[in-house]
Amino acid sequence: MNSVSPHSPPPECPVHDYGTDLLPLSTATGATEPREVYRRLREDWGNVAKVELEPGVHAWLVMGYRELLTITRQEQVYSRDARNWRDLKDGVVSPRSGLLPMMAWRANVVGADGPEHRRLRQPLDDGVARIDQRRARRQVESVCTELIAEFSQHGRADLVSEYATIVPLLSIASLFGLDSTEGQELRRALIALFGSAGDSQDGNRHFEEILIDTLRERQNNPTDDLTTAFINHPNLNSEAERLQSMVVMISSGTEGVNAWISHTLRLMLTDPRFAARLHGGRLGVDDALDEALWRDPPMNNMPARYALRDTELGGRLIRRGDVLILGIAAANDDPAIRPDEDSAGDPGNRAHLAFSAGPHVCPAQVPARLITRTAVNTALHLLPDMMLSIPADKVAWRLSPWTRVPVSLPVQFSAARIPIRSAR
Ligand code: HEM
Repeated sequence: MNSVSPHSPPPECPVHDYGTDLLPLSTATGATEPREVYRRLREDWGNVAKVELEPGVHAWLVMGYRELLTITRQEQVYSRDARNWRDLKDGVVSPRSGLLPMMAWRANVVGADGPEHRRLRQPLDDGVARIDQRRARRQVESVCTELIAEFSQHGRADLVSEYATIVPLLSIASLFGLDSTEGQELRRALIALFGSAGDSQDGNRHFEEILIDTLRERQNNPTDDLTTAFINHPNLNSEAERLQSMVVMISSGTEGVNAWISHTLRLMLTDPRFAARLHGGRLGVDDALDEALWRDPPMNNMPARYALRDTELGGRLIRRGDVLILGIAAANDDPAIRPDEDSAGDPGNRAHLAFSAGPHVCPAQVPARLITRTAVNTALHLLPDMMLSIPADKVAWRLSPWTRVPVSLPVQFSAARIPIRSAR
């Protein structure tokens, strides 16, 4: 069991007092039972706890359901723009900090507030609203079936590296009109971009080149994909803004969907009660997906909001320039909305905060669900007798302060029902 700081400031005196032995946030995501860690943290601090992001860098972890709605909805007090982060301005956060890939400000929808945010956000909402659901489902089904066909004859596979990590990018790429060869090329560029082999800049350049080529091609041959929707949107004023909108959709979407697919498959393979309810028809696939979002939201902790003035939240004094982390996993488990273990996960209850709330709420909930549902359904359908080939408690996690995603899900199966057209 991980230990949590016993630091417990007197409630009548919510002073701004950064203690010396704060809980490192990665300790919570890395625990066998993160919920236990959040529960103990809540006992010590209440709904808003001071935690450590990296040595010497502190943040408020917002664990109350109500408080999380407050910080996501009140953008006049809680900004999304990291340039308001005092510790970054003061040099407490090093320019080489591992926090910056997730937290540094970028000139896109994610880092914008107010009218500028609405200008950049509208094209995403309009583009998503125009997606042809039936066609998108067919495209995702074909991505999933082809991947399963590639490993089906071996009788074993790793559902994370050979499936869950690949489906999201190829599927989102298909929403932008990229075919599977172009999608695979985009994937290779992304692997180079995030890899450590020294070809990261080439990867980045190639990634953007593929998207620019797609934009220019659609300029001449418009169709009904997301690329064309961005080209035609009056809010986007330049090729650079259209490119940024594509990049932000692809980069925000792939990890979240990977985590959602992996968590749902892991629950099916490791939790007999969950599997029995699903196979016995007592839990529909959509309800199973929501149960996974309640229990293991893809972003356990989401960066961030920055206080624009001194204020009070959950009995704590928040100072201007403080950083607040959205404690999504903890807020989903807040006793105020979840008086007992099963109460919030009732089938049909989608009040979880996995997609956040307020103006920055995830704009892609519908396509994210479509991709995840299709990936889970296709695996269930084509690999009906798959079984985990390691003990459930040996599933290892890829960890960061923000997420916990299975490293691998090795399975074995006797037969795969691959449709003839996809069989290799
Ligand atoms: C097709 C897949 C997805 C795409 C294209 C996508 C795209 C995006 C984008 C562009 C934003 C920024 C919106 C803004 O700042 O106004 C965003 C926010 C967010 N997304 Fe998604 N997303 C996808 C899947 C997911 C999934 C599966 C989850 C988790 C279940 C998720 C959770 C979130 C959260 C928590 C935020 C909000 C952040 C905040 O309040 O700061 N997304 N998403």
